[in-house]
Amino acid sequence: MRSVFRDFTDEFFQILTYPKEKWNVFWENYKNSMKFIEPLMKKHNLNDEKVVEVLKKIGRKELDKAYWYKQSMMKKFKSEIIGELTKNSEKLQVNRGDYAVYLVCFLGQEPYEFLDSFKGTIIVVDFLYIYLNKNRINPKDLVEEAILNFVTTVPSNKKKADFWVLFDKIQTVITNSNYKTKEEVMQRIVELLSERIDYYNWVGFYLVDDEDKDLLVLGPYVGEPTEHERIKFGQGVCGQAASAKKAFIVGDVTKEENYLSCSPKTQSEIVVPIFDKKGNIIGEIDIDSHQKDAFDQDDKAFLEEVAKLITYRFY
Ligand code: SME
Repeated sequence: MRSVFRDFTDEFFQILTYPKEKWNVFWENYKNSMKFIEPLMKKHNLNDEKVVEVLKKIGRKELDKAYWYKQSMMKKFKSEIIGELTKNSEKLQVNRGDYAVYLVCFLGQEPYEFLDSFKGTIIVVDFLYIYLNKNRINPKDLVEEAILNFVTTVPSNKKKADFWVLFDKIQTVITNSNYKTKEEVMQRIVELLSERIDYYNWVGFYLVDDEDKDLLVLGPYVGEPTEHERIKFGQGVCGQAASAKKAFIVGDVTKEENYLSCSPKTQSEIVVPIFDKKGNIIGEIDIDSHQKDAFDQDDKAFLEEVAKLITYRFY
């Protein structure tokens, strides 16, 4: 099973290897390597300067002490949390699979907060808060309170839980050097998408032609064969998404005038573009469903992240 608790505090304490006047450089690196930092900053309407200012106010001496505090308590703290998650798995609804607890260092101002995404919620617990309030709070109790607060206020979301597992799986395919070519990786991805999500009934890639940059050519796919092996930009849902360079969701294909039918069973469709690192469109992921209104913003966000993985590895 996916780990429900992860400790990312080491990454923050790299700050102590930077001189104070370079803490802005540290923060830039930290933000780039820890994907949850930017959403947290956005949530609090903070920019880099403001964050660095707060950290400087806390000061190196205090951060140094926080580091030594962490060294002294982390082993026990972690084993207490793992014990708690095992012992109280029912109460903490561990099996719902749509949350994880990340122990991170942010600004020490809030004990914990929830970051929602297509694959569930990250319960971010701020270790700096724990340190700054160490005399009055028990870290294990705080984590338990955070989880209970989440599971009792947010209904369980199976779709997000499935996306989480599937996204991690696709990530391992992307980084697995046994899959050598683009085609092999894409074939595995369409297989996984169609196997694991029951309403993804036709899953395929269309790639921009090497010569004709206004033409999409069918790539690896799973599902019934289609007569639309080559689609001009602007034509059908696929061509429209390619021209507009943005995702399209069609809830009811019978109502879409610019639509190329592949199968009478198809009722709804989603198309998500894939870009190269410079932002040029290089292809798209196309999925048809036999259900009406099958796709929502979580599908879109999920597939956009899958598209980014492909960009990262190949383009
Ligand atoms: N329906 C698409 C054509 C591709 S098939 O769905 C496989 C469209 O309208 O562009």
